[in-house]
Amino acid sequence: MAEIILPEVELNINSPKDPAEATLVENFVCTAENSPNIIRHLTFDISGTDLVGKFRVGQSIGVLAPGEDHRGKPHKLRLYSVSSPSNGEGGNSHLVSTTVKRAMDEVDGTFYMGVCSNYLCNLKVGDKLKVTGPSGRRYLLPENSEDFNYVFFATGTGIAPFRGMIIELLESGFKGQVALVFGCPYRTDVIYPKFFTEMAEKYDNFHYIKMISREDRRADGSKYYVQTAIEDRAETLDPILSQDNTLIYLCGMKGMETGIYHNLAKKGFMDYLLLKDGLEDKAPADWSWEEAKNLVKPSSRTFEEVY
Ligand code: FAD
Ligand code: A2P
Repeated sequence: MAEIILPEVELNINSPKDPAEATLVENFVCTAENSPNIIRHLTFDISGTDLVGKFRVGQSIGVLAPGEDHRGKPHKLRLYSVSSPSNGEGGNSHLVSTTVKRAMDEVDGTFYMGVCSNYLCNLKVGDKLKVTGPSGRRYLLPENSEDFNYVFFATGTGIAPFRGMIIELLESGFKGQVALVFGCPYRTDVIYPKFFTEMAEKYDNFHYIKMISREDRRADGSKYYVQTAIEDRAETLDPILSQDNTLIYLCGMKGMETGIYHNLAKKGFMDYLLLKDGLEDKAPADWSWEEAKNLVKPSSRTFEEVY
């Protein structure tokens, strides 16, 4: 396999102590309007700041919500994955996009609204906001991206970096194979459905797989998750995963990595993994969840961003 050459990136040009001012230029729902998980696509104009042209796809932008937390301290920085390609939204280096889900929780009958995601989702076009970044040194496409194939696994807003990566790869004439495995609860929660469907129609080398967890059940009664696609959609994924120049990227909810690593191991795709002492002599089918969680790490062919 060719050496994976990651681009040099500039980090934290603007920090929380010295944030840049951006202007919101787009804010629209990017799932079905009737989704219980309304998720929005936001675009920030960073013109006139030192951040223009500096965000690479895979990196994150920081947002400082106004106001104070319950201790009277300014709200802490929250990170959001860039969903535009490295040359900016629509090829405009002063425009950076992201994909935001309103965070909400109900605990013992009390309803909590996440500070920053709801602040962002409520912003109107023309509003100003404080941003930082870029953040993230390794979760990037290689400089020599054409030397590899890619399998992207996303749950929920973990789709954000893959929107940008897929635009960047396919719209520049990439000839390798790209598969996107996207997981969400209901069909109405699919994020950017029209965009990815059209990309799959346009590019023969792009494979779009949706794993809907709460509508149908697998034959054994379990849910369709991104990691079950390794088995359920083997006809598409095996030929890509088995090539020795394929890289995998995971993004989304913490915990998704364990199932993906375990299922890759069960199918014998060990090159994507590093095993810690204690697992070498045990068949993957016999690993416990705890073992898969604690003793399996990503290899250099695997890129992981979970939050
Ligand atoms: P917070 O205010 O931080 O609250 C977190 C959760 O706790 C909320 O669900 C809230 O309802 C609940 N809560 C608050 N108070 C209480 C309480 N007292 N008791 C119980 N529950 C409570 N998110 C995206 O949407 N899109 C992205 O692309 C994205 N990319 C990320 C990339 C990285 C590298 C990382 C680290 C995170 C990313 N995130 C992304 C997550 C994001 O940074 C925020 O964590 C998320 O938006 C929630 O922030 P918040 O301020 O809205 O919620
Ligand atoms: P479920 O919640 O039905 O168990 P969202 O961020 O929009 O909620 O989507 C996250 C998706 O990831 C859901 O379909 C969720 O399924 C699924 N999911 C939950 N736990 C895991 C896990 N451990 N590994 C992979 N996917 C998971």
